[in-house]
Amino acid sequence: MKKTRTKNNWIKEHLSDKYVQKAQHEGYRSRAAYKLIEINAKYNLVKKNNRIVDLGSAPGSWSQALSSIIGESGEIFAIDLLPMEGVKNTTFIQGDFQDNAILDQLELLLKNQPVDLVISDMAPNISGNKTRDQALIIGLNELSLEFAKDWLKPKGNFLVKTFMGSGFEEFVKTMKNVFKRVIIKKPESSRDRSAEFFLIGLEKL
Ligand SMILES: C[S@@+](CC[C@H](N)C(=O)[O-])C[C@H]1O[C@@H](n2cnc3c(N)ncnc32)[C@H](O)[C@@H]1O
Repeated sequence: MKKTRTKNNWIKEHLSDKYVQKAQHEGYRSRAAYKLIEINAKYNLVKKNNRIVDLGSAPGSWSQALSSIIGESGEIFAIDLLPMEGVKNTTFIQGDFQDNAILDQLELLLKNQPVDLVISDMAPNISGNKTRDQALIIGLNELSLEFAKDWLKPKGNFLVKTFMGSGFEEFVKTMKNVFKRVIIKKPESSRDRSAEFFLIGLEKL
């Protein structure tokens, strides 16, 4: 009974959410698109002809938003545990970014060419155990940063979703050793009740 009421509340909130409605109207697969669009409007991370790696890409709304900016000569390399429908100029790999064999596949696709931007919207399935969830997202953040260090061009940019909690300050500190500027951002389109924040690393040193 209680569970049904919670589910009904979620559906009600979801349907009345202005970003859900906007996404349906504008053809984005998820309201998440607007987090990237909002961040990009302020920090100008995505440019025409860019090569971009999109980690945790499904269902694909960030790839859709990127694809409309980079144009025909740009390229997106996307990866997710879940399947994802095709997006223009996007090569998709289904698998776990933490799995070395999957990472090898991604690196092979990059053909030794560095990229302009690495973005990660990866998050663990929220278990409700805050300590566990926090440790898992920081683990994903660290792997993404390692990847960005290896593959970004000098002055390349990095955007990563994280949660505020244990390991957050330490991770920001590590990012400050890699980028000229590090920004902590909670986009307006991110739900208040969500623990998520985004970290933006500008201009890889
Ligand atoms: C919030 S969703 C991403 C939404 C996406 N940015 C969009 O706009 O459509 C987070 C995604 O991260 C993926 N993910 C979580 N852990 C992952 C991992 N280890 N490897 C690959 N994908 C992962 C999940 O499967 C999920 O689809």
